[in-house]
Amino acid sequence: MLHRRRFLQLGSLGLGAFSFAGSTAGKAAARKPIVISTWDAGIEANKAAWKVLRSGGRALDAVEQGVMITEASQNCCVGLGANPDRDGYVTLDSCIMDEKANCGSVAFLERIKHPVSVARRVMEKTPHVMLVGSGAQQFAIEEGFPLEPSKLSEEAERDYQNWLKKSEYKPVINIENTKKQTAFVPIKYDNGEWNHDTIGMVAMDAAGNLSGSCTTSGMGFKMRGRLGDSPIIGAGLFVDNEVGAATATGQGEDVIRICGSHLVVELMRQGLSPEAACKKAVERIIKIKGDAAKDIQVGFIAINKQGEYGGYCIQKGFNFAVCYADDKNFMVEGRFVL
Ligand code: GLY
Repeated sequence: MLHRRRFLQLGSLGLGAFSFAGSTAGKAAARKPIVISTWDAGIEANKAAWKVLRSGGRALDAVEQGVMITEASQNCCVGLGANPDRDGYVTLDSCIMDEKANCGSVAFLERIKHPVSVARRVMEKTPHVMLVGSGAQQFAIEEGFPLEPSKLSEEAERDYQNWLKKSEYKPVINIENTKKQTAFVPIKYDNGEWNHDTIGMVAMDAAGNLSGSCTTSGMGFKMRGRLGDSPIIGAGLFVDNEVGAATATGQGEDVIRICGSHLVVELMRQGLSPEAACKKAVERIIKIKGDAAKDIQVGFIAINKQGEYGGYCIQKGFNFAVCYADDKNFMVEGRFVL
């Protein structure tokens, strides 16, 4: 299982150098191809994406093949090995977007190993953008995706049984300015990890075209039927081939509230660097949430057409993986506001 706690080890194994917060922003202009992705699972995902990019392939293929690695791994938060909802079912959300604003998405999808590939089929083979639940599963089966067993992975079963002992799930209504909304306070484990996140990946290929993907099992032990930001174009992911691409991780409810990834891209359009745009989006969430912001984590990563990259998060603990020809594949610690 590839956990965030391993990211320092990855560096020491020579799989990547480690860069501190101060060097989050990219320096060189017109750097391409390039791929970046959230969390330390991004190192392995970037490797798969890089195979496509270095041979002159499309960013779209790279971002699909990249996150498929994470979907297939035993990961707490992505793919069928992930933690289930509170009723014991793993439900998956994913989306993908290309340089022509084509996009596809699936949500509340069960028993399908690669939701990102189903999202791509929705984009390429249907007149729609989004399919959910049993309809998405039916479409996947019709497209030849095998229906996987519904059994939880050993690790997810153990985590679920532990979670059931207390059923710790804390809907609170304490947000200034949004008193009628419910905030799900995610569980922060003793080792500092959060009980949910996502892999989001954005890339620019040698031709200068951008694409992105985002895939998750959502918040661990969530209410059945809950969707976060990850399958929502504009929230969990946004690509504008004239400007840049952005993706999000963390508490999806609060990313949705500000159309986070779209906001980051629009801020880049106004001239902000990827890092500055991500920071402004994070600050907007903090402003909305007030004191409750300290109980959540949200992170954004972005690239622009010059191949500059950056990321920002609410609080310490978020990192992302960056891969391009000269500097290879390395982790960057996201800067944080609180
Ligand atoms: N960002 C993933 C989720 O909230 O579901």
